[in-house]
Amino acid sequence: MDPLSSIMVRCSLLWMLSGFLFGGAMLVDQDIPGNWRLWMQPTHGHMLFVGWFLQFALGIAYWLLPRKRSPQRPLGYDLKTAQIAVLALNLGLLCRVAGEPWQRTGHNDAFASLILWTSAILQIAAAFIFAVQLWPRVAARAPRAQTVERTRS
Ligand code: HEM
Repeated sequence: MDPLSSIMVRCSLLWMLSGFLFGGAMLVDQDIPGNWRLWMQPTHGHMLFVGWFLQFALGIAYWLLPRKRSPQRPLGYDLKTAQIAVLALNLGLLCRVAGEPWQRTGHNDAFASLILWTSAILQIAAAFIFAVQLWPRVAARAPRAQTVERTRS
């Protein structure tokens, strides 16, 4: 497995664990201190859909999709750029996990705006890099028979 994929899958497992923990707290909210449903409702969904599902799928995609290696790019993609995207995705999600419950508890202030803007920009930047890096790796290839036909004529 690529080192990048390993990091992404490990981060996704951590998000799965924390998303489930918050989900559990939301489920038994009436019996424990705190208002977990109010604090965590949309955030819990995003921890699991973005942090867990999406990051797991993209981590595996970086590893398994076809790649064109070159001496300049032994992995078939620019590792540093991909690492920046992973950092941006996870920091962006962390900002959301901090900012959203803060805002949902009545703190509709400048800090909430700043942290939610930061979250949005980081996650959009990460998505942009993922799309640009993976796009060429899903180019369609002519079926084998057609390729042979073309080389004969
Ligand atoms: C991959 C797994 C999961 C995903 C993708 C997921 C996703 C979601 C989403 C999208 C919501 C709606 C959030 C909203 O209304 O804004 C939600 C709500 C909720 N989830 Fe999860 N969830 C998962 C696992 C779990 C687990 C394991 C638990 C409990 C241990 C849990 C407990 C809850 C609770 C209590 C609610 C609030 C229900 C309500 O008040 O309407 N979830 N989840």
